[in-house]
Order: sequence, then structure tokens, then C-alpha cells
Amino acid sequence: MNILLTGASSGFGRMTTHALLDKGHKVAATMRDPGGRNAAVADELRTAGAFVTEIDVTSTESVDTGVAASIEALGSIDAVINNAGVGVHGLQESFTPEDFQRLFDINVFGVQRMNRAVLPHMRQRGSGLLMHISSLLGRFTLPFYGPYNASKHALEGLAENYRSELSGFGIETVLIEPGGFPTEFGANLMHPSDDAAEMGYGPMAQAPQQAAEGFMEFLAANPQQDPKLVIEAIVRVIETPHGQRPFRTPVDELGWRPLFEAYNAEADKLTQAIYGGMGMDGMLAVKVSEDA
Ligand SMILES: NC(=O)c1ccc[n+]([C@@H]2O[C@H](COP(=O)([O-])OP(=O)(O)OC[C@H]3O[C@@H](n4cnc5c(N)ncnc54)[C@H](OP(=O)(O)O)[C@@H]3O)[C@@H](O)[C@H]2O)c1
Repeated sequence: MNILLTGASSGFGRMTTHALLDKGHKVAATMRDPGGRNAAVADELRTAGAFVTEIDVTSTESVDTGVAASIEALGSIDAVINNAGVGVHGLQESFTPEDFQRLFDINVFGVQRMNRAVLPHMRQRGSGLLMHISSLLGRFTLPFYGPYNASKHALEGLAENYRSELSGFGIETVLIEPGGFPTEFGANLMHPSDDAAEMGYGPMAQAPQQAAEGFMEFLAANPQQDPKLVIEAIVRVIETPHGQRPFRTPVDELGWRPLFEAYNAEADKLTQAIYGGMGMDGMLAVKVSEDA
């Protein structure tokens, strides 16, 4: 398949690019600043066979230019992996509205920019796959990840809506929901701009830092929580036949995955029942063309 991926410079994006190339797929590995700060990883991915081009998901111009260059280089785009994303840590009250805007500009509006740039191409071809790297924090919330929780819940809603509105065009929409995994994610967290509110939290103001340290220790004590599980899930869903992909795929080996699978199955039953009751159940099945 011909696949465009955002945020290829580190973590899941970098590993997924290698895994997809190893499986014989063509990959447009997009990233910020491939000629500067990310030049070494850009060279590494080019040497492995990727087409590398710049995309900053916070800029519509950058997204449109990068998508056009990728279509020209690969010939077409069968799948987009919306992977670029940033986490946060801190008391939710300390994040200003501007902090929220900066985060949503990457984790939510960046995805909308990307999807809007590729969808005319996919609709014209009558097939495509939009994959969204969400999080278990798009299905429940943990304290001190407030704006991130909100952004991934928004991403889940955005994807769920595309699922129905695009199914008739042969375009499939899926979500991958990883738990916490040791990537560069922890080093790249955004922190709150206004810590004035902390004064009113007393000893609890220290809790975010303690929770972050505790979680790092928990991850270190659970080496089975290996990022390669996320990469395997992404590749598995990409390689599942069109029209048969699961809408949500939680990935986690800390013990809670079965609960999320059950929750997702119940949520899907509810969606199917309401769509069925409103005579819209056809909008949940992806149209697969006869020659696909
Ligand atoms: N690791 C986890 O525990 C975990 C769990 C659940 C979900 N996720 C999700 O998985 C995805 C990848 O995260 P990761 O763990 O691989 O973290 P990571 O190693 O920090 O990678 C994040 C990637 O996003 C890119 N990015 C940030 N802002 C961007 C922008 N404006 N335009 C384009 N790219 C941008 C970064 O590029 P730069 O190098 O330019 O900064 C980097 O390549 C994210 O959506 C994250 O929310 C991660």
C-alpha cells in the first residue's frame, strides 16, 4: 500500500515507518524540519526507502504542500496514519486557553487539516483508509493529563463522525488506542503556562510530578509494555482487508485491555442500535468496490 504518516521523526512514527517499509509498503514519512533538527532521522528513513517530506500539522499550507508532494512521489495515497501528537502534564486549571489551543492545533485540528487534504484524492479513487493514533486516554481520563484527555476524546469523536460520513465512498476510518508506552513522548510533554492556580492546591500541587515519576517507575517494572506492540497493531490493521478492519484497537499489556475491548464493544452496540433505529445503519458499513 502507499501510506502517508505524520510525525515520523520519533517514537511510534519512526518505528512504524521502518516496519511498513520492511513489509514492502511505500511510505511518505512526513515530519517537521527534515532539513534541520530532524535531518539525521530523515536520512535514516530515506536510506531505508521512505519518501521524506516536511509536514507541520499546525500549518494548512505545509499539510497541503506535503500531501501534494507525497501523491506525486508515491503515485497515490491509500492510507494516512495521523500519528503526530503531543502530551501534557500538570494540573488542568494551570493550562491557559492558549495552552489548550496549542495542543488542539496539533492533536485535533492537525488531523482535520490532514484529512481534508487527502479526502478529495481518496473520494476520487473510491477507496482509502484514515487511521488515527488516539490513546486509551481518549476513552477515559487520568488526572494531570487534562488537556490531552480532552484532545484525544475530541479525536475519537472526529474519527467516529468520519466513519459514518465516508463509509459510502469506500473510505474506512479506524482508531488505534495505545496505553502508556516508553517513547520520546514523556520528554516532549507540554507543561502549563500559568502555575498561579497551584497556590490554592496546597500539597496536591506536587501530585503531578509525583504521579509522573510513579508512572515512569511502573513502566520500567513492566517491560512487556513494549512500543513494538503498537507498531504491530498498526501494521496488522493496515494489512487487514478493506471493509474488515476493526474501528477501535486498544493496545496495552498492563492488564486493562480486555476492559477497553468490552467498553468499545458496548459502545459499538449502542451506535449500531441508534443508527439502526434511525434507519442509518448502512452508514456504518464501508462500501467495498467489486474490483477491490
Ligand atoms: N507514547 C505513549 O505513551 C502514547 C500513548 C498513547 C498515544 N500516543 C500517541 O501516539 C502518537 C505518537 O506519539 P509518540 O509516543 O511516538 O511520541 P513522540 O516520540 O514524542 O512522537 C511525537 C511525534 O509527533 C511529532 N509532532 C509534534 N508536533 C508536530 C507538528 N506540529 N507537526 C508534525 N509533527 C509533529 C513529533 O515531531 P518533532 O520531532 O518535530 O517534535 C514526533 O515525531 C501521538 O499522537 C501520541 O498522542 C502515545
